[in-house]
Amino acid sequence: MSVSGKKVTIAAATATESDAAAENSPSVIVRGLRRVFGDRAVLDGIDLTLYTGDFIALLGPSGTGKTTLLRILGGLDTADEGKVVVPRARSIVFQEPRLVPAMKVWRNVVLGAPNMRAVKAQAIASLAEVGIEKHANAWPRTLSGGEAQRVALARALATEPGLLLLDEPFAALDALTRIRMHDLLAALCERHRPAVVLVTHDVDEAILLADRVLVLADGNIRLDLPVDIGKPRLQSDPRFLKLRERLLEQLGVVAAAGAGPVEVQPAN
Ligand SMILES: Nc1ncnc2c1ncn2[C@@H]1O[C@H](COP(=O)(O)OP(=O)(O)OP(=O)(O)O)[C@@H](O)[C@H]1O
Ligand SMILES: [Mg+2]
Repeated sequence: MSVSGKKVTIAAATATESDAAAENSPSVIVRGLRRVFGDRAVLDGIDLTLYTGDFIALLGPSGTGKTTLLRILGGLDTADEGKVVVPRARSIVFQEPRLVPAMKVWRNVVLGAPNMRAVKAQAIASLAEVGIEKHANAWPRTLSGGEAQRVALARALATEPGLLLLDEPFAALDALTRIRMHDLLAALCERHRPAVVLVTHDVDEAILLADRVLVLADGNIRLDLPVDIGKPRLQSDPRFLKLRERLLEQLGVVAAAGAGPVEVQPAN
């Protein structure tokens, strides 16, 4: 997962790598993706195209296949049908930071590098980017939830992924830490320019961060809305509120009055 800029076909009925080999071609190409568990097609004909630097947010009720889609894009699961072409260098960040407890923070950042000693400086530079280089020699158990998730982000970006996959990365954090993490993620993505897929249940988080917000339901993408609002985005902006209302309606939630955050809770 380290050959930046090259594409790999990870699940294909009909794909060839040349589909995405040309310059300026999409970074991610998904066509007719199906994933079936038992007799249920959780993903049933997904089409998706992302270019370098695109940032999409994926919303949808619990159990609609958001994590399944992310896992397939990340190479942790395979499609039953369809074509999936993705950059070879990909990273995934989950809700939990998943740090190795027996390794110091800096070692977690460069986990898997061939010569750990040589890459310590690189690890510290990555930690500085997320504002926690002073914790480089700490053990993961001594970090707060927000700090640990910063380490997870540093680790994800250290390989310069062409595709960054985020599965509810801030869901376990308190509201203030979450706001700080939004700013941090936006700055990091601006600098590194990976294609990003952010899965979230937080409609405001989706609109604040993404260029497009997609809603997944019943195996397919039911809504794909561009967020044509300049940054920084204000939750009080009428365009923000309109988009929010549209998304909540699609998710089957009645929009709350006012401009406060709304989190769509899992349906079951
Ligand atoms: N390996 C598996 N075997 C069988 N069923 C699975 C497997 N992985 C996922 N599923 C099922 O597929 C459906 C979609 O799961 P997935 O985790 O992708 O949903 P999700 O949209 O991420 O939900 P949530 O918002 O709760 O995280 C669920 O019904 C789940 O039980
Ligand atoms: Mg999930």
